[in-house]
Amino acid sequence: MLPAPPLDSLPPVMAHRGLSARAPENTLAAVRAAHAAGCRWVELDVQLLGDGTPVIWHDARLNRCSHSRGRLADLDRQRARRVDAGSRFAPRFRGEPMASLEAMLALVETLGLGLNLEFKLHRGRDPAALVDTVLPLVERCLPPSRWLASSFDRRALHALRRHRPDPHRLRLGVIDKRLPRRWREEVHELGAFSLHLDWRRLREPQARAVAASPCRLVAYTVNQPRIARRLYAWGAASLISDDPLALTDIK
Ligand code: G3P
Ligand code: MG
Repeated sequence: MLPAPPLDSLPPVMAHRGLSARAPENTLAAVRAAHAAGCRWVELDVQLLGDGTPVIWHDARLNRCSHSRGRLADLDRQRARRVDAGSRFAPRFRGEPMASLEAMLALVETLGLGLNLEFKLHRGRDPAALVDTVLPLVERCLPPSRWLASSFDRRALHALRRHRPDPHRLRLGVIDKRLPRRWREEVHELGAFSLHLDWRRLREPQARAVAASPCRLVAYTVNQPRIARRLYAWGAASLISDDPLALTDIK
């Protein structure tokens, strides 16, 4: 396994929610699969259960990715252990647990992967609680060069920066569905390392403007070689993909 690259050279592709095209998203199995496929970085979503336990999960609810029902905000660690996060994806993943942040960090560390950790805030959830809980746990496991904190939620990004004012100690990625009108100001205020944009709403002049700035352009969620080629040509530093194997040898 190659060592994770220094963050000045982001990997050309990051595995979205682990290797989510081929394993249940955001699980330990998906991260092992990403590693086995040769990926060097993974993107994962972190949020808190109702009792404050940090877990790797995308949705506000359990329904889409398990056979359980209900909201994460109503779940505690004990009940979370009974969630089967695997068999809805495929029967052979039956019993795959909902990953705690701690278990996931241990795996990422052991496999030598880099981590783009998305601080996921659904409606009504508390950004300060998420940041206060997650930041020290990640920093205990990974050096600043091995991870990137990203979020759609500006309150979370500002809280992260307040905790770690030095941009070299904490790399921040601003996620948005489309390029914000004031993106230069936002990036400057946050000392952001990268802007993560939905490729479907990204136009060439916008992409080229970001790529020409000190802020790296990251595009999600890119699964087609044709789109990947176009985005690299526009200056994208990295693409977030459900299926990095489909994009092999493009950059
Ligand atoms: O981090 C990029 C991408 O993961 C953002 O969207 O909904 O997949 O978390 P989502
Ligand atoms: Mg995400």
